[in-house]
Amino acid sequence: MVAAEGVRLQKVLARVGFGSRRTCDDLIAAGRVRVDGVVAVLGRRVDPETALILVDGAPVGVRPGLVYYLLNKPAGVVTTADDPQGRPVVVGLVPDEPRVFPVGRLDLDTEGLLLLTNDGEIANRITHPSYGVEKEYVAHVEGTPSRSVLRQLREGVELDDGVTAPARVTPVEPNVLRLVVHEGRNRQVRRMCDAVGHPVIRLVRTRIGPLADRSIRPGTWRHLETDELRALERAVADGA
Ligand code: URA
Repeated sequence: MVAAEGVRLQKVLARVGFGSRRTCDDLIAAGRVRVDGVVAVLGRRVDPETALILVDGAPVGVRPGLVYYLLNKPAGVVTTADDPQGRPVVVGLVPDEPRVFPVGRLDLDTEGLLLLTNDGEIANRITHPSYGVEKEYVAHVEGTPSRSVLRQLREGVELDDGVTAPARVTPVEPNVLRLVVHEGRNRQVRRMCDAVGHPVIRLVRTRIGPLADRSIRPGTWRHLETDELRALERAVADGA
């Protein structure tokens, strides 16, 4: 039976590192893939959140080779693999092997959640604006933003690279805002707050799509859980 809904199985397999979609089709055609206990056929679609997918009897998502680290980046660490000025870099905070790269970037002084992986496909999707993956920040700002400032931030702020898309903005304390954006422009939150006269004093990313965890100590990381990876795959399944 070929389900009409869901994500194509070869796409799901390609995303978790089984090779190109063509290679994944070959795996399916060879009868090496089972979904919920049944050998899958070409064209099969699945719900990546709920389907139990096995390749050669091993559940996907726990395949050796692809790693996903959720890091709590401290201030003062650069979001690159290598810094010509010799400052500490985020990849220095996670294991050396396999080589991973940061998904998107946080400014030198921004703290909070950063994903590092060697899964290029999911990384592209998380950062590409057409998938609209939400990022949530807590910004400590100078002064107390008024209601009209909050409205401006929500509706769009004129920046030198254009007006920002609508954002969700909630005051948490008089000088602390929670902002949810999905564009990922360079220094976007700082520039938005500057533009409305409330420069950022401290900025912390608290969520990337479905990923949120306040218990990771600054400078430390943990592996994504299988269900978090699946939720992330689902968040980027229907974009572009
Ligand atoms: N917006 C910023 O201004 N800085 C970041 O690091 C992330 C989002």
